[in-house]
Amino acid sequence: MEQTFIMIKPDGVQRGLIGEIIKRLEQKGFNLIAMKTMNVSRELAEKHYDVHRDKPFFSNLVEFIISAPVVAMVWEGEGIVAATRKMVGETNPLNAEPGTIRGDYGISIGRNLIHASDAVETAQREIALWFEQGELTSWQGALQNWIYE
Ligand code: RTP
Ligand code: MG
Repeated sequence: MEQTFIMIKPDGVQRGLIGEIIKRLEQKGFNLIAMKTMNVSRELAEKHYDVHRDKPFFSNLVEFIISAPVVAMVWEGEGIVAATRKMVGETNPLNAEPGTIRGDYGISIGRNLIHASDAVETAQREIALWFEQGELTSWQGALQNWIYE
């Protein structure tokens, strides 16, 4: 089953949106298989956003991610990487469609509430970066046959 890495950023935590974000993913039918609230080290933040190391926004981005606790999660489900990117919405919340998390709750690109892996390979890299293998669970919900054909 496909897995993805989701992080509620410091602004999402401070704005009291943890429950709302989890609710959306849970009601979609996806399974939460790992979750932790944590202060992110500079090293981890820089590794996570390594692909953006040379971008002008990199240092602000890292400073923001380490500024207050985040909620790191692994979610599982069919087609979950592409589906969660759609549920999260465009990077700039002002361009994100209503009905998406960023479209419903955000305004600034540097306060866009949530991260979701952008490809299956990225998800594998990010899950390994943020979680030990032993922290991941795997379970089949009792409603499996009512969610999947
Ligand atoms: P994320 O990685 O956080 O899920 O966001 P994303 O895929 O939608 O966007 P990405 O291009 O990976 O950018 C990572 C984060 O950097 C900040 N950013 N600022 N000022 C800017 O032009 C700019 N561009 C990107 C955003 O906070 C974005 O989420
Ligand atoms: Mg990204």
